[in-house]
Amino acid sequence: MSRILITSAIPYINGIKHLGNLVGSQLPADLYARYMRMRGHEVMFICATDEHGTPAELAAAKAGKPVAEYCAEMWQVQSDLAKGFRLSFDHFGRSSSARNRALTQHFAKRLAENGFIEEVTEKQVFSVADNRFLPDRYIEGTCPNCGYDRARGDQCENCTKQLDPTDLINPRSAISGSTELEVRETRHLYLRQKALKGEISDWIDSKTDWPVLTTSIARKWLNDGEGLQDRGITRDLSWGVPVQFDGAPWSGMDGKVFYVWFDAPIEYIAATAEWADANGLSDDAWQRWWRTDRGAEDVTYVEFMGKDNVPFHTLSFPATIMGSREAWKLVDYIKSFNYLNYDGGQFSTSQGRGVFMDQALSILPADYWRWWLLSHAPESSDSEFTWENFQASVNKDLADVLGNFVSRITKFCRSKYGEAVPEGGTLDDRALALIDELETRTRAYEAHMEAMDIRKAATELRTIWAAGNEYLQSAAPWTVHKTDPEAAAAMVRLSLNLVRLYAILSEPFIPDASAKMLAGMKTDDRTWPGPVAEALTVLEPGHAFETPEVLFAKIADEEREDWQKRFAGVRT
Ligand code: 2FM
Ligand code: ZN
Repeated sequence: MSRILITSAIPYINGIKHLGNLVGSQLPADLYARYMRMRGHEVMFICATDEHGTPAELAAAKAGKPVAEYCAEMWQVQSDLAKGFRLSFDHFGRSSSARNRALTQHFAKRLAENGFIEEVTEKQVFSVADNRFLPDRYIEGTCPNCGYDRARGDQCENCTKQLDPTDLINPRSAISGSTELEVRETRHLYLRQKALKGEISDWIDSKTDWPVLTTSIARKWLNDGEGLQDRGITRDLSWGVPVQFDGAPWSGMDGKVFYVWFDAPIEYIAATAEWADANGLSDDAWQRWWRTDRGAEDVTYVEFMGKDNVPFHTLSFPATIMGSREAWKLVDYIKSFNYLNYDGGQFSTSQGRGVFMDQALSILPADYWRWWLLSHAPESSDSEFTWENFQASVNKDLADVLGNFVSRITKFCRSKYGEAVPEGGTLDDRALALIDELETRTRAYEAHMEAMDIRKAATELRTIWAAGNEYLQSAAPWTVHKTDPEAAAAMVRLSLNLVRLYAILSEPFIPDASAKMLAGMKTDDRTWPGPVAEALTVLEPGHAFETPEVLFAKIADEEREDWQKRFAGVRT
Protein backbone atom coordinates (compact mmCIF):
# COMPACT_ATOMS: atom_id res chain seq x y z
CA MET A 1 0.00 0.00 0.00
CA SER A 2 1.39 3.43 -0.85
CA ARG A 3 0.41 6.93 0.09
CA ILE A 4 -0.73 9.18 -2.70
CA LEU A 5 -1.27 12.91 -2.41
CA ILE A 6 -3.47 14.28 -5.19
CA THR A 7 -4.27 17.93 -5.83
CA SER A 8 -6.50 19.51 -8.43
CA ALA A 9 -5.86 23.09 -9.55
CA ILE A 10 -8.04 25.22 -7.33
CA PRO A 11 -10.87 26.98 -9.22
CA TYR A 12 -11.26 30.74 -8.97
CA ILE A 13 -14.04 31.75 -6.64
CA ASN A 14 -15.80 34.10 -9.04
CA GLY A 15 -18.54 32.25 -10.80
CA ILE A 16 -19.53 28.71 -11.58
CA LYS A 17 -17.10 26.65 -13.65
CA HIS A 18 -17.94 25.18 -17.05
CA LEU A 19 -17.42 21.60 -18.15
CA GLY A 20 -14.12 22.53 -19.82
CA ASN A 21 -12.77 23.67 -16.46
CA LEU A 22 -14.11 20.53 -14.81
CA VAL A 23 -12.46 18.09 -17.21
CA GLY A 24 -9.19 20.02 -17.07
CA SER A 25 -8.40 19.18 -13.45
CA GLN A 26 -11.00 18.31 -10.83
CA LEU A 27 -12.67 15.45 -12.66
CA PRO A 28 -9.56 13.54 -13.81
CA ALA A 29 -8.03 14.07 -10.37
CA ASP A 30 -11.15 12.50 -8.88
CA LEU A 31 -10.91 9.56 -11.26
CA TYR A 32 -7.36 8.92 -10.15
CA ALA A 33 -8.15 9.38 -6.45
CA ARG A 34 -11.08 6.96 -6.65
CA TYR A 35 -9.03 4.40 -8.54
CA MET A 36 -6.16 4.56 -6.07
CA ARG A 37 -8.54 4.20 -3.13
CA MET A 38 -10.18 1.20 -4.81
CA ARG A 39 -6.71 -0.33 -5.10
CA GLY A 40 -6.29 0.01 -1.35
CA HIS A 41 -3.84 2.91 -1.27
CA GLU A 42 -3.99 5.69 1.28
CA VAL A 43 -5.11 8.76 -0.63
CA MET A 44 -5.25 12.43 0.31
CA PHE A 45 -7.25 14.30 -2.33
CA ILE A 46 -7.22 18.07 -1.97
CA CYS A 47 -8.94 20.94 -3.71
CA ALA A 48 -10.08 24.43 -2.65
CA THR A 49 -11.38 27.70 -3.99
CA ASP A 50 -8.88 30.31 -5.20
CA GLU A 51 -10.37 33.37 -3.56
CA HIS A 52 -7.97 36.29 -3.81
CA GLY A 53 -7.19 38.77 -6.57
CA THR A 54 -8.90 41.52 -8.53
CA PRO A 55 -11.49 39.30 -10.29
CA ALA A 56 -12.87 38.18 -6.92
CA GLU A 57 -13.06 41.78 -5.70
CA LEU A 58 -14.80 42.93 -8.85
CA ALA A 59 -17.25 40.03 -8.85
CA ALA A 60 -18.16 40.81 -5.24
CA ALA A 61 -18.64 44.49 -6.09
CA LYS A 62 -20.88 43.52 -9.00
CA ALA A 63 -22.93 41.30 -6.71
CA GLY A 64 -23.13 44.23 -4.26
CA LYS A 65 -21.58 42.23 -1.43
CA PRO A 66 -18.54 42.52 0.80
CA VAL A 67 -15.87 40.34 -0.75
CA ALA A 68 -15.56 38.01 2.25
CA GLU A 69 -19.29 37.37 2.21
CA TYR A 70 -19.32 36.84 -1.53
CA CYS A 71 -16.48 34.32 -1.27
CA ALA A 72 -18.14 32.41 1.55
CA GLU A 73 -21.31 32.09 -0.51
CA MET A 74 -19.53 31.08 -3.68
CA TRP A 75 -17.44 28.54 -1.80
CA GLN A 76 -20.69 26.89 -0.69
CA VAL A 77 -22.02 26.92 -4.26
CA GLN A 78 -18.85 25.36 -5.64
CA SER A 79 -18.66 22.86 -2.81
CA ASP A 80 -22.26 21.73 -3.45
CA LEU A 81 -21.57 21.37 -7.17
CA ALA A 82 -18.45 19.34 -6.44
CA LYS A 83 -20.59 17.02 -4.34
CA GLY A 84 -23.13 16.90 -7.15
CA PHE A 85 -20.43 15.70 -9.53
CA ARG A 86 -19.29 13.24 -6.85
CA LEU A 87 -15.84 14.79 -6.60
CA SER A 88 -14.45 12.87 -3.66
CA PHE A 89 -12.16 15.48 -2.11
CA ASP A 90 -10.87 14.66 1.33
CA HIS A 91 -11.06 18.38 1.83
CA PHE A 92 -12.33 21.31 -0.21
CA GLY A 93 -10.57 24.25 1.35
CA ARG A 94 -10.44 28.01 0.90
CA SER A 95 -7.36 29.99 0.00
CA SER A 96 -8.63 32.77 2.28
CA SER A 97 -8.26 30.49 5.31
CA ALA A 98 -6.18 31.37 8.37
CA ARG A 99 -4.01 28.36 7.57
CA ASN A 100 -3.16 29.73 4.15
CA ARG A 101 -2.52 33.20 5.48
CA ALA A 102 -0.02 31.80 8.00
CA LEU A 103 1.69 29.47 5.53
CA THR A 104 1.92 32.09 2.79
CA GLN A 105 3.51 34.54 5.20
CA HIS A 106 5.79 31.79 6.45
CA PHE A 107 7.05 30.96 2.95
CA ALA A 108 7.66 34.63 2.14
CA LYS A 109 9.61 35.05 5.35
CA ARG A 110 11.77 32.01 4.64
CA LEU A 111 12.38 33.19 1.08
CA ALA A 112 13.42 36.59 2.38
CA GLU A 113 15.72 35.08 4.98
CA ASN A 114 17.35 33.01 2.27
CA GLY A 115 17.93 36.00 0.03
CA PHE A 116 15.32 35.15 -2.60
CA ILE A 117 13.18 38.26 -2.12
CA GLU A 118 14.03 41.64 -3.54
CA GLU A 119 12.21 44.95 -3.14
CA VAL A 120 11.57 46.70 -6.41
CA THR A 121 10.14 50.13 -7.10
CA GLU A 122 8.06 50.18 -10.24
CA LYS A 123 5.70 52.42 -12.09
CA GLN A 124 2.07 51.37 -12.33
CA VAL A 125 -1.12 52.83 -13.63
CA PHE A 126 -3.36 54.25 -10.90
CA SER A 127 -7.01 55.05 -11.53
CA VAL A 128 -8.06 58.06 -9.50
CA ALA A 129 -11.79 57.41 -9.94
CA ASP A 130 -11.47 53.78 -8.87
CA ASN A 131 -8.93 54.69 -6.19
CA ARG A 132 -6.76 51.71 -7.06
CA PHE A 133 -3.82 50.54 -9.08
CA LEU A 134 -5.01 48.76 -12.18
CA PRO A 135 -3.62 45.38 -13.21
CA ASP A 136 -2.58 45.54 -16.88
CA ARG A 137 -5.59 43.65 -18.11
CA TYR A 138 -7.95 46.15 -16.48
CA ILE A 139 -6.67 48.97 -18.64
CA GLU A 140 -8.32 49.30 -22.04
CA GLY A 141 -7.60 51.48 -25.01
CA THR A 142 -6.90 51.57 -28.71
CA CYS A 143 -4.27 49.18 -30.04
CA PRO A 144 -1.29 51.03 -31.54
CA ASN A 145 -0.79 48.12 -33.93
CA CYS A 146 -4.23 47.45 -35.42
CA GLY A 147 -6.48 50.21 -34.11
CA TYR A 148 -8.83 47.85 -32.24
CA ASP A 149 -10.51 50.07 -29.65
CA ARG A 150 -10.87 47.52 -26.85
CA ALA A 151 -7.31 46.27 -26.56
CA ARG A 152 -6.21 45.31 -23.05
CA GLY A 153 -3.11 46.61 -21.32
CA ASP A 154 -1.41 43.21 -21.54
CA GLN A 155 -2.41 42.15 -25.02
CA CYS A 156 -4.58 43.08 -27.99
CA GLU A 157 -7.24 40.44 -28.41
CA ASN A 158 -7.69 41.40 -32.05
CA CYS A 159 -4.13 41.20 -33.41
CA THR A 160 -2.62 39.27 -30.41
CA LYS A 161 0.22 41.79 -30.01
CA GLN A 162 1.69 41.80 -26.50
CA LEU A 163 1.31 45.28 -25.07
CA ASP A 164 2.32 47.44 -22.17
CA PRO A 165 -0.46 49.59 -20.72
CA THR A 166 1.53 52.67 -21.71
CA ASP A 167 1.38 51.59 -25.39
CA LEU A 168 -2.40 52.04 -25.48
CA ILE A 169 -3.89 55.08 -27.20
CA ASN A 170 -6.60 56.77 -25.09
CA PRO A 171 -6.25 54.41 -22.14
CA ARG A 172 -9.15 54.05 -19.71
CA SER A 173 -10.05 51.96 -16.69
CA ALA A 174 -11.86 48.77 -17.66
CA ILE A 175 -13.59 48.91 -14.29
CA SER A 176 -15.17 52.35 -14.40
CA GLY A 177 -14.29 53.59 -17.88
CA SER A 178 -12.55 56.59 -16.29
CA THR A 179 -9.68 58.13 -18.27
CA GLU A 180 -8.28 59.85 -15.21
CA LEU A 181 -5.23 57.61 -15.03
CA GLU A 182 -1.85 58.41 -13.56
CA VAL A 183 1.42 56.55 -13.55
CA ARG A 184 2.50 56.25 -9.93
CA GLU A 185 5.44 54.66 -8.22
CA THR A 186 4.86 51.67 -5.99
CA ARG A 187 7.12 49.19 -4.17
CA HIS A 188 6.75 45.45 -4.46
CA LEU A 189 8.41 42.24 -3.39
CA TYR A 190 9.91 40.15 -6.15
CA LEU A 191 10.70 36.46 -5.98
CA ARG A 192 14.21 35.99 -7.41
CA GLN A 193 13.36 33.06 -9.62
CA LYS A 194 16.44 33.68 -11.77
CA ALA A 195 18.62 32.76 -8.81
CA LEU A 196 16.85 29.41 -8.62
CA LYS A 197 16.89 28.72 -12.34
CA GLY A 198 19.68 26.13 -12.25
CA GLU A 199 18.01 24.14 -9.49
CA ILE A 200 14.62 24.24 -11.15
CA SER A 201 16.04 23.29 -14.50
CA ASP A 202 17.93 20.28 -13.06
CA TRP A 203 14.79 19.20 -11.28
CA ILE A 204 12.71 19.39 -14.49
CA ASP A 205 15.42 17.46 -16.35
CA SER A 206 15.16 14.70 -13.76
CA LYS A 207 11.45 14.24 -14.55
CA THR A 208 11.94 12.02 -17.53
CA ASP A 209 8.56 10.32 -17.11
CA TRP A 210 6.49 13.52 -17.23
CA PRO A 211 4.06 14.10 -20.12
CA VAL A 212 5.56 16.12 -22.96
CA LEU A 213 2.79 18.70 -22.60
CA THR A 214 4.03 19.43 -19.08
CA THR A 215 7.79 19.50 -19.66
CA SER A 216 7.65 21.36 -22.96
CA ILE A 217 5.76 24.24 -21.35
CA ALA A 218 8.21 24.32 -18.44
CA ARG A 219 11.27 24.28 -20.72
CA LYS A 220 9.82 27.00 -22.90
CA TRP A 221 9.54 29.31 -19.90
CA LEU A 222 12.96 28.34 -18.65
CA ASN A 223 14.82 28.81 -21.90
CA ASP A 224 12.92 30.92 -24.45
CA GLY A 225 13.86 34.54 -24.92
CA GLU A 226 15.22 35.98 -21.72
CA GLY A 227 14.30 32.82 -19.82
CA LEU A 228 12.90 32.58 -16.33
CA GLN A 229 12.22 36.02 -14.88
CA ASP A 230 12.00 37.32 -11.33
CA ARG A 231 8.38 37.82 -10.47
CA GLY A 232 6.39 40.33 -8.42
CA ILE A 233 4.63 38.50 -5.61
CA THR A 234 2.79 41.42 -4.03
CA ARG A 235 -0.03 43.67 -5.18
CA ASP A 236 -1.67 46.94 -4.17
CA LEU A 237 -5.01 45.47 -3.19
CA SER A 238 -6.92 45.08 0.03
CA TRP A 239 -8.28 41.54 -0.46
CA GLY A 240 -5.62 38.91 -0.03
CA VAL A 241 -2.97 37.68 2.38
CA PRO A 242 -1.44 40.80 3.98
CA VAL A 243 2.29 41.25 3.52
CA GLN A 244 3.16 40.72 7.15
CA PHE A 245 5.39 38.40 9.09
CA ASP A 246 4.60 37.05 12.52
CA GLY A 247 1.94 39.73 12.80
CA ALA A 248 4.39 42.57 12.13
CA PRO A 249 4.12 44.53 8.89
CA TRP A 250 6.99 44.38 6.42
CA SER A 251 8.26 47.90 6.27
CA GLY A 252 7.04 49.81 3.25
CA MET A 253 4.54 47.07 2.37
CA ASP A 254 1.69 48.47 4.39
CA GLY A 255 -1.72 47.77 2.91
CA LYS A 256 -0.35 45.39 0.30
CA VAL A 257 -1.20 41.75 -0.19
CA PHE A 258 0.49 38.78 -1.80
CA TYR A 259 -0.26 38.14 -5.44
CA VAL A 260 -3.01 35.55 -5.86
CA TRP A 261 -0.69 33.20 -7.77
CA PHE A 262 1.76 33.25 -4.88
CA ASP A 263 -0.72 32.09 -2.26
CA ALA A 264 -2.88 29.79 -4.44
CA PRO A 265 -0.57 26.77 -4.68
CA ILE A 266 0.42 27.16 -1.03
CA GLU A 267 -3.26 26.49 -0.39
CA TYR A 268 -2.69 22.86 -1.39
CA ILE A 269 -0.66 22.55 1.79
CA ALA A 270 -2.94 24.81 3.79
CA ALA A 271 -6.05 22.89 2.72
CA THR A 272 -4.48 19.71 4.03
CA ALA A 273 -3.95 21.52 7.35
CA GLU A 274 -7.59 22.70 7.14
CA TRP A 275 -8.53 19.04 6.68
CA ALA A 276 -6.66 18.11 9.86
CA ASP A 277 -8.33 20.97 11.75
CA ALA A 278 -11.78 19.99 10.48
CA ASN A 279 -11.20 16.44 11.70
CA GLY A 280 -9.76 17.40 15.07
CA LEU A 281 -6.33 16.03 14.14
CA SER A 282 -2.91 17.33 15.11
CA ASP A 283 -0.34 18.98 12.84
CA ASP A 284 1.41 15.63 12.43
CA ALA A 285 -1.62 14.37 10.52
CA TRP A 286 -1.18 16.84 7.66
CA GLN A 287 2.58 17.22 7.88
CA ARG A 288 3.08 13.54 7.15
CA TRP A 289 1.73 14.35 3.69
CA TRP A 290 3.88 17.41 3.12
CA ARG A 291 7.05 17.40 5.20
CA THR A 292 9.70 15.01 4.02
CA ASP A 293 11.25 15.27 7.49
CA ARG A 294 7.95 14.11 9.04
CA GLY A 295 7.08 11.06 6.97
CA ALA A 296 6.25 12.48 3.54
CA GLU A 297 9.35 11.04 1.87
CA ASP A 298 7.29 7.97 0.94
CA VAL A 299 4.36 9.99 -0.44
CA THR A 300 3.78 10.16 -4.19
CA TYR A 301 2.43 13.61 -5.03
CA VAL A 302 0.45 14.06 -8.26
CA GLU A 303 -0.99 17.36 -9.51
CA PHE A 304 -3.77 17.78 -12.09
CA MET A 305 -4.28 20.98 -14.07
CA GLY A 306 -5.04 22.66 -17.39
CA LYS A 307 -2.09 23.64 -19.57
CA ASP A 308 -2.40 27.33 -18.72
CA ASN A 309 -1.52 26.46 -15.11
CA VAL A 310 1.64 24.52 -15.94
CA PRO A 311 4.20 27.38 -15.66
CA PHE A 312 3.06 28.17 -12.13
CA HIS A 313 3.34 24.55 -11.04
CA THR A 314 6.58 23.65 -12.78
CA LEU A 315 8.43 26.88 -12.01
CA SER A 316 6.91 29.33 -9.53
CA PHE A 317 5.54 27.00 -6.88
CA PRO A 318 8.68 24.82 -6.95
CA ALA A 319 10.73 28.04 -6.64
CA THR A 320 8.74 28.94 -3.53
CA ILE A 321 9.30 25.51 -2.05
CA MET A 322 12.97 25.17 -3.01
CA GLY A 323 13.77 28.71 -1.91
CA SER A 324 12.29 28.06 1.53
CA ARG A 325 15.15 25.59 2.11
CA GLU A 326 12.73 23.58 4.20
CA ALA A 327 11.72 19.95 3.80
CA TRP A 328 8.48 20.45 1.86
CA LYS A 329 7.32 17.84 -0.62
CA LEU A 330 7.80 18.71 -4.29
CA VAL A 331 5.43 17.35 -6.90
CA ASP A 332 6.32 13.94 -8.36
CA TYR A 333 4.08 13.96 -11.41
CA ILE A 334 2.08 16.64 -13.21
CA LYS A 335 -0.80 15.56 -15.37
CA SER A 336 -1.85 18.48 -17.54
CA PHE A 337 -4.66 18.90 -20.04
CA ASN A 338 -5.40 20.71 -23.25
CA TYR A 339 -8.69 22.55 -23.72
CA LEU A 340 -12.16 21.25 -24.28
CA ASN A 341 -14.03 23.25 -26.90
CA TYR A 342 -17.76 23.64 -27.13
CA ASP A 343 -19.84 22.96 -30.21
CA GLY A 344 -17.68 24.64 -32.84
CA GLY A 345 -16.19 27.35 -30.63
CA GLN A 346 -14.82 27.87 -27.17
CA PHE A 347 -16.37 27.59 -23.77
CA SER A 348 -16.52 31.13 -22.51
CA THR A 349 -17.16 32.15 -18.94
CA SER A 350 -17.45 35.82 -19.81
CA GLN A 351 -19.92 35.17 -22.64
CA GLY A 352 -21.72 32.36 -20.81
CA ARG A 353 -21.12 30.04 -23.73
CA GLY A 354 -21.21 26.31 -23.11
CA VAL A 355 -22.56 24.17 -20.31
CA PHE A 356 -21.78 25.17 -16.75
CA MET A 357 -21.61 22.75 -13.84
CA ASP A 358 -24.96 23.74 -12.33
CA GLN A 359 -26.73 23.58 -15.68
CA ALA A 360 -25.26 20.19 -16.48
CA LEU A 361 -26.59 18.68 -13.26
CA SER A 362 -29.97 20.30 -13.80
CA ILE A 363 -30.51 18.24 -16.95
CA LEU A 364 -28.74 14.93 -16.29
CA PRO A 365 -27.13 13.05 -13.39
CA ALA A 366 -23.39 13.27 -12.77
CA ASP A 367 -22.45 9.89 -14.25
CA TYR A 368 -23.61 10.84 -17.75
CA TRP A 369 -21.29 13.85 -17.73
CA ARG A 370 -18.45 12.07 -16.00
CA TRP A 371 -18.46 9.31 -18.56
CA TRP A 372 -18.52 11.57 -21.57
CA LEU A 373 -16.01 14.09 -20.24
CA LEU A 374 -13.50 11.53 -19.04
CA SER A 375 -13.76 9.34 -22.12
CA HIS A 376 -13.12 12.47 -24.23
CA ALA A 377 -10.56 14.11 -21.95
CA PRO A 378 -8.38 16.58 -23.90
CA GLU A 379 -5.15 14.72 -23.25
CA SER A 380 -3.01 14.70 -26.38
CA SER A 381 -4.84 17.58 -28.08
CA ASP A 382 -7.82 19.83 -27.58
CA SER A 383 -11.13 18.00 -27.83
CA GLU A 384 -14.65 19.14 -28.57
CA PHE A 385 -17.99 18.71 -26.92
CA THR A 386 -20.87 18.39 -29.34
CA TRP A 387 -24.38 17.46 -28.34
CA GLU A 388 -24.55 14.81 -31.06
CA ASN A 389 -21.44 13.13 -29.77
CA PHE A 390 -22.62 13.38 -26.18
CA GLN A 391 -25.98 11.83 -27.08
CA ALA A 392 -24.33 9.05 -29.09
CA SER A 393 -21.86 8.13 -26.34
CA VAL A 394 -24.44 8.11 -23.58
CA ASN A 395 -26.96 6.13 -25.60
CA LYS A 396 -24.48 3.60 -26.83
CA ASP A 397 -21.90 3.08 -24.08
CA LEU A 398 -24.04 3.67 -21.03
CA ALA A 399 -27.58 2.72 -22.10
CA ASP A 400 -27.17 0.12 -24.87
CA VAL A 401 -24.09 -1.63 -23.60
CA LEU A 402 -23.71 -1.38 -19.82
CA GLY A 403 -27.27 -0.55 -18.80
CA ASN A 404 -28.77 -3.07 -21.17
CA PHE A 405 -26.48 -5.83 -19.97
CA VAL A 406 -27.43 -5.30 -16.34
CA SER A 407 -31.11 -5.03 -17.00
CA ARG A 408 -31.28 -7.96 -19.37
CA ILE A 409 -29.51 -10.45 -17.16
CA THR A 410 -31.22 -9.49 -13.91
CA LYS A 411 -34.68 -9.51 -15.51
CA PHE A 412 -34.08 -12.81 -17.23
CA CYS A 413 -32.84 -14.42 -14.04
CA ARG A 414 -35.80 -13.08 -12.08
CA SER A 415 -38.26 -14.48 -14.59
CA LYS A 416 -36.73 -17.96 -14.85
CA TYR A 417 -34.87 -18.63 -11.61
CA GLY A 418 -36.07 -15.95 -9.18
CA GLU A 419 -34.01 -13.15 -7.64
CA ALA A 420 -31.08 -15.28 -6.48
CA VAL A 421 -27.95 -16.53 -8.22
CA PRO A 422 -28.92 -19.89 -9.80
CA GLU A 423 -26.98 -23.07 -9.19
CA GLY A 424 -25.99 -25.90 -11.51
CA GLY A 425 -24.21 -26.24 -14.85
CA THR A 426 -20.59 -25.59 -15.74
CA LEU A 427 -18.88 -22.89 -17.78
CA ASP A 428 -18.65 -23.67 -21.47
CA ASP A 429 -15.87 -22.71 -23.88
CA ARG A 430 -17.49 -19.43 -24.77
CA ALA A 431 -17.55 -18.45 -21.10
CA LEU A 432 -13.93 -19.48 -20.63
CA ALA A 433 -12.89 -17.42 -23.64
CA LEU A 434 -14.71 -14.42 -22.18
CA ILE A 435 -12.90 -14.85 -18.86
CA ASP A 436 -9.57 -15.00 -20.67
CA GLU A 437 -10.34 -11.86 -22.58
CA LEU A 438 -11.47 -10.04 -19.44
CA GLU A 439 -8.33 -11.10 -17.63
CA THR A 440 -6.15 -9.45 -20.28
CA ARG A 441 -8.35 -6.39 -20.54
CA THR A 442 -8.63 -5.83 -16.80
CA ARG A 443 -4.85 -5.84 -16.46
CA ALA A 444 -4.56 -3.42 -19.39
CA TYR A 445 -7.19 -1.18 -17.80
CA GLU A 446 -5.18 -1.12 -14.57
CA ALA A 447 -2.04 -0.16 -16.45
CA HIS A 448 -3.82 2.75 -18.18
CA MET A 449 -5.28 3.96 -14.90
CA GLU A 450 -1.88 3.82 -13.17
CA ALA A 451 -0.39 5.76 -16.07
CA MET A 452 -3.30 8.26 -16.00
CA ASP A 453 -4.01 7.51 -19.65
CA ILE A 454 -7.60 8.41 -19.21
CA ARG A 455 -8.94 7.94 -22.71
CA LYS A 456 -7.17 4.62 -23.07
CA ALA A 457 -8.60 3.50 -19.74
CA ALA A 458 -12.10 4.54 -20.85
CA THR A 459 -11.72 2.68 -24.13
CA GLU A 460 -10.64 -0.46 -22.30
CA LEU A 461 -13.52 -0.21 -19.85
CA ARG A 462 -16.00 0.27 -22.68
CA THR A 463 -14.60 -2.85 -24.37
CA ILE A 464 -14.89 -4.78 -21.10
CA TRP A 465 -18.59 -3.85 -20.91
CA ALA A 466 -19.09 -4.72 -24.56
CA ALA A 467 -17.45 -8.11 -24.17
CA GLY A 468 -20.01 -9.09 -21.52
CA ASN A 469 -22.83 -7.82 -23.65
CA GLU A 470 -21.64 -9.75 -26.68
CA TYR A 471 -21.17 -12.86 -24.60
CA LEU A 472 -24.71 -12.67 -23.32
CA GLN A 473 -26.05 -12.04 -26.79
CA SER A 474 -24.27 -15.04 -28.30
CA ALA A 475 -24.65 -17.40 -25.31
CA ALA A 476 -28.40 -16.59 -25.35
CA PRO A 477 -29.39 -18.25 -22.05
CA TRP A 478 -33.04 -17.47 -22.91
CA THR A 479 -32.84 -19.95 -25.78
CA VAL A 480 -30.60 -22.49 -24.03
CA HIS A 481 -32.91 -22.44 -21.01
CA LYS A 482 -35.68 -24.08 -23.05
CA THR A 483 -33.64 -27.25 -23.56
CA ASP A 484 -30.90 -27.12 -20.92
CA PRO A 485 -31.77 -25.01 -17.85
CA GLU A 486 -28.58 -26.10 -16.04
CA ALA A 487 -26.30 -24.84 -18.79
CA ALA A 488 -28.29 -21.59 -18.89
CA ALA A 489 -27.93 -21.29 -15.11
CA ALA A 490 -24.14 -21.30 -15.43
CA MET A 491 -24.37 -18.48 -18.00
CA VAL A 492 -26.66 -16.47 -15.76
CA ARG A 493 -24.44 -17.00 -12.72
CA LEU A 494 -21.41 -15.80 -14.63
CA SER A 495 -23.29 -12.77 -15.93
CA LEU A 496 -24.59 -11.76 -12.50
CA ASN A 497 -21.04 -11.92 -11.25
CA LEU A 498 -20.05 -9.75 -14.17
CA VAL A 499 -22.44 -7.08 -12.91
CA ARG A 500 -20.45 -6.97 -9.67
CA LEU A 501 -17.14 -6.93 -11.52
CA TYR A 502 -18.37 -4.07 -13.72
CA ALA A 503 -19.51 -2.13 -10.67
CA ILE A 504 -16.01 -2.32 -9.19
CA LEU A 505 -14.07 -1.57 -12.36
CA SER A 506 -16.40 1.30 -13.30
CA GLU A 507 -16.52 2.99 -9.89
CA PRO A 508 -13.91 5.66 -10.66
CA PHE A 509 -15.78 6.73 -13.82
CA ILE A 510 -19.43 6.33 -12.81
CA PRO A 511 -19.65 6.03 -9.03
CA ASP A 512 -23.45 6.34 -8.76
CA ALA A 513 -24.18 3.59 -11.27
CA SER A 514 -21.53 1.49 -9.59
CA ALA A 515 -23.24 1.90 -6.22
CA LYS A 516 -26.61 1.00 -7.76
CA MET A 517 -25.16 -2.12 -9.33
CA LEU A 518 -23.61 -3.25 -6.06
CA ALA A 519 -26.81 -2.47 -4.17
CA GLY A 520 -28.73 -4.45 -6.77
CA MET A 521 -26.37 -7.38 -6.31
CA LYS A 522 -26.79 -6.97 -2.54
CA THR A 523 -23.09 -7.00 -1.86
CA ASP A 524 -20.58 -4.59 -0.34
CA ASP A 525 -17.67 -6.67 -1.51
CA ARG A 526 -15.77 -4.06 -3.51
CA THR A 527 -12.50 -5.96 -3.51
CA TRP A 528 -10.51 -5.10 -6.60
CA PRO A 529 -10.31 -8.19 -8.82
CA GLY A 530 -7.25 -10.38 -8.66
CA PRO A 531 -7.59 -13.19 -11.21
CA VAL A 532 -10.84 -12.46 -13.05
CA ALA A 533 -11.88 -16.13 -12.95
CA GLU A 534 -11.96 -15.90 -9.15
CA ALA A 535 -13.63 -12.52 -9.02
CA LEU A 536 -16.45 -14.01 -11.10
CA THR A 537 -17.32 -16.59 -8.45
CA VAL A 538 -17.83 -14.23 -5.53
CA LEU A 539 -21.63 -14.23 -5.80
CA GLU A 540 -22.39 -17.85 -5.02
CA PRO A 541 -25.45 -19.89 -5.90
CA GLY A 542 -28.34 -18.84 -3.70
CA HIS A 543 -27.04 -15.27 -3.22
CA ALA A 544 -30.10 -13.01 -3.40
CA PHE A 545 -30.20 -9.88 -5.55
CA GLU A 546 -32.67 -7.22 -6.57
CA THR A 547 -33.27 -6.25 -10.16
CA PRO A 548 -31.93 -2.66 -10.26
CA GLU A 549 -33.96 0.17 -11.74
CA VAL A 550 -32.89 1.40 -15.18
CA LEU A 551 -29.29 2.58 -14.85
CA PHE A 552 -29.16 5.00 -17.77
CA ALA A 553 -31.99 6.58 -19.75
CA LYS A 554 -31.38 7.30 -23.41
CA ILE A 555 -31.22 10.87 -24.61
CA ALA A 556 -33.97 11.54 -27.16
CA ASP A 557 -33.38 13.66 -30.25
CA GLU A 558 -35.86 16.30 -29.04
CA GLU A 559 -34.04 16.65 -25.74
CA ARG A 560 -30.74 17.02 -27.50
CA GLU A 561 -32.10 19.70 -29.81
CA ASP A 562 -33.67 21.54 -26.92
CA TRP A 563 -30.41 21.59 -24.93
CA GLN A 564 -28.43 22.55 -27.98
CA LYS A 565 -30.58 25.67 -28.30
CA ARG A 566 -30.63 26.43 -24.59
CA PHE A 567 -26.87 26.41 -24.20
CA ALA A 568 -25.89 28.04 -27.45
CA GLY A 569 -25.43 31.58 -26.32
CA VAL A 570 -25.47 33.98 -23.49
CA ARG A 571 -26.14 32.54 -20.11
CA THR A 572 -29.15 34.06 -18.42
O1 2FM B 1 -6.54 28.80 -13.35
C1 2FM B 1 -7.13 28.76 -12.29
O2 2FM B 1 -8.33 28.49 -12.23
C2 2FM B 1 -6.39 29.03 -11.00
N1 2FM B 1 -7.33 29.44 -9.98
C3 2FM B 1 -5.66 27.79 -10.61
C4 2FM B 1 -4.84 27.89 -9.38
S1 2FM B 1 -4.10 26.38 -9.11
C5 2FM B 1 -3.11 26.62 -7.82
F1 2FM B 1 -2.07 27.19 -7.99
F2 2FM B 1 -3.59 26.54 -6.73
ZN1 ZN C 1 -4.21 45.07 -32.11
